[in-house]
Amino acid sequence: MVEATILTRDGSPTRYHPRYQQHYHSLSGAHLEARMRYVVASRVVERARDQGKVRILDVGFGLGTNLAWAIHEIQQEVPGASIEIVSLERELLPVDVLLPHFRALPETRLARMLRDLVQTGEWIERNLRLQLICAEAQIEIDSIEGPFDTVFLDPFSPRCNPELWASPFLAAIRSRMAQGGILTTYSCARSVRLSLLRAGWEIGVGPRVGSKSSGTLASCGSVLPPLVAIDPKQSRWLVRQLRGPGDGET
Ligand SMILES: C[S@@+](CC[C@H](N)C(=O)[O-])C[C@H]1O[C@@H](n2cnc3c(N)ncnc32)[C@H](O)[C@@H]1O
Repeated sequence: MVEATILTRDGSPTRYHPRYQQHYHSLSGAHLEARMRYVVASRVVERARDQGKVRILDVGFGLGTNLAWAIHEIQQEVPGASIEIVSLERELLPVDVLLPHFRALPETRLARMLRDLVQTGEWIERNLRLQLICAEAQIEIDSIEGPFDTVFLDPFSPRCNPELWASPFLAAIRSRMAQGGILTTYSCARSVRLSLLRAGWEIGVGPRVGSKSSGTLASCGSVLPPLVAIDPKQSRWLVRQLRGPGDGET
C-alpha cells in the first residue's frame, strides 16, 4: 500500500485528497459503494440485458473503482453484452499510485485493463470499449457524443467541486442521454436535487450504502419501476424553488 491509501470498512482501499480534504469513496466501503450506489442503483445490468449493449458516462474516473465494478458486474451477469464507457478526469493520478487500487479489484484482468487505459487513454477489445479523457468535464462534455444509458456522477462534494453539480453541466449530460437513462450520485443535497430538476431530470431517492445517506437517482423521462419518491416536505420545497423568482439555494 502506498502512503495516503486508506482501507475502508469492507476492506477495499481508497485515498484521501489533501486539497479537497475528502476521500475518493465512502469509508463504509469503496467497493461496496461502487457496486451498490453506482452499478446496482443505475440498473445498468438490466439495461445491458434488455438491449444487449450499454453506454456509460463516468464523471470522475478517480481510482477507476466505479468503472471497474461496472465492467465486472455486467460481464458476469450478461456475458456477451457490448459495453462502452467514457470516463472524464481532470487530475489523473500517476499509474504507480493507481496500481495498488487496481490490484484490489475483483479480477486481475481488470487491473491490467485499467493500467493500459490510464497509460494510453483507451482500451478496446471485443464487446468492450473504454475511453479515458483527461480534461475538465464541464468543458469536455460539449464534444462528447451521446446517447448514454447511465451516468456515474461522482465528483467531490458540491462545496468544493461546484462546477460538476451545476445545472448547465447536468443539462449538458441530460441532452446526451437515451430515453429512460439513469444518473446516480451519492449526494442528497437539496441544492443538487434542485440543479437536477432545473436541468430537466426527474429525480428520486437512491439506496442507502453503509452509513451514508441515500444519495439521488435521476432519470431522463420516466422509468419502470419508477424511482423512489423523495420525501414530501423536500418535494414541496423543491417545487417552491422551481416556481419562485430568485430562488435561493441551500
Ligand atoms: C470522488 S472522486 C471519484 C472516484 C471514482 N469515481 C472512483 O470510482 O474511483 C472525484 C474525482 O473527480 C475528479 N474531478 C473533480 N473535478 C473535476 C472536473 N471538473 N472535471 C473532471 N474531473 C474532475 C477528481 O479529480 C477526482 O478524481
